[in-house]
Amino acid sequence: MADAEVGDDVYDEDPTVHALQERVAGVFGKEAALFTPTGSMANVLALASLVGPGTEVLCEARAHILRAELGAHGAFTGLTSRTWSHPRGQVDLPAIEEMYAPDMGPFFVRTTAVSVENTHNFAGGAVLPLADLRDLREFATAVGTRVHLDGARIWNAHVATGTPLREYGAVADVLSVCLSKGLGAPVGSLMVGDRDAIAEARVRRKRMGGGMRQVGILAAAGLHALDHHVERLADDHAHARLLAEACGVDPQSVDTNIVVVERADAAEFVTRAREAGVAVATVGPTAVRMVTHLGIDRADAETAAKALAAL
Ligand SMILES: Cc1ncc(COP(=O)(O)O)c(C=O)c1O
Repeated sequence: MADAEVGDDVYDEDPTVHALQERVAGVFGKEAALFTPTGSMANVLALASLVGPGTEVLCEARAHILRAELGAHGAFTGLTSRTWSHPRGQVDLPAIEEMYAPDMGPFFVRTTAVSVENTHNFAGGAVLPLADLRDLREFATAVGTRVHLDGARIWNAHVATGTPLREYGAVADVLSVCLSKGLGAPVGSLMVGDRDAIAEARVRRKRMGGGMRQVGILAAAGLHALDHHVERLADDHAHARLLAEACGVDPQSVDTNIVVVERADAAEFVTRAREAGVAVATVGPTAVRMVTHLGIDRADAETAAKALAAL
């Protein structure tokens, strides 16, 4: 980061940001990408490129875009949403087909995009099978709607399944991807899509206060993460399975680096885990979430598993 060559990215003159954007666009087989400070901003820009005010996005009920972005999509973009529910956050094509609303003039809200999340955060890091994503792509193309993929942890899905990132890129019109989750960069996400959508998003990003100047120092961290921290995500997945086992959750049900444990005493469990030196959090009144990442090595995971098992 200290050695990064920088320029003013508001003028599109930062070579390190260019290198990151071109690399990420390339691995997903897309034309262009745009660096953003957060995954939430990448999602807002990505969805706004597909869904206009007063039209709707369909997504799973616990999608991060609805549950944890504090209403950003309604507040900034003016979109509405309807949801299907799946315990593992999966694509439910029959439900989507039933909900999908074509343009019916001034009577019904029109569906302009379907959004999916891979891996699915609040469904415990569950991977969406590529076959389901391809079926969704086929449906979307047939009816003329578009697909957004919230790929904050797409790297985890890639490592867990061996699916090339380009295949994930092919099922979506636009993606958001994060460098700041398991990949370990301190900051940074990207919107990935076609050239026109990215050009438009560059304007919206500036409007939202997300135009950053010599931001190559952060892009350099992202490039480092892509070089060194993708394949090692497999370690995080193994560590998550250790934690699951310690908590009585079937490790086979853990696809990646997130474990969600259902407990009636979730808040108290979190307090006691923290007292025992293990940082976990509630993601609902009866749900405790545990996440493994670059900062947790095997010995840490074993220590945490032992402490959690004792609780
Ligand atoms: C699936 C998903 N999408 C988007 C985000 C938003 O990322 P950020 O916290 O960088 O805004 C998160 C954050 O955890 C996430 O889990």
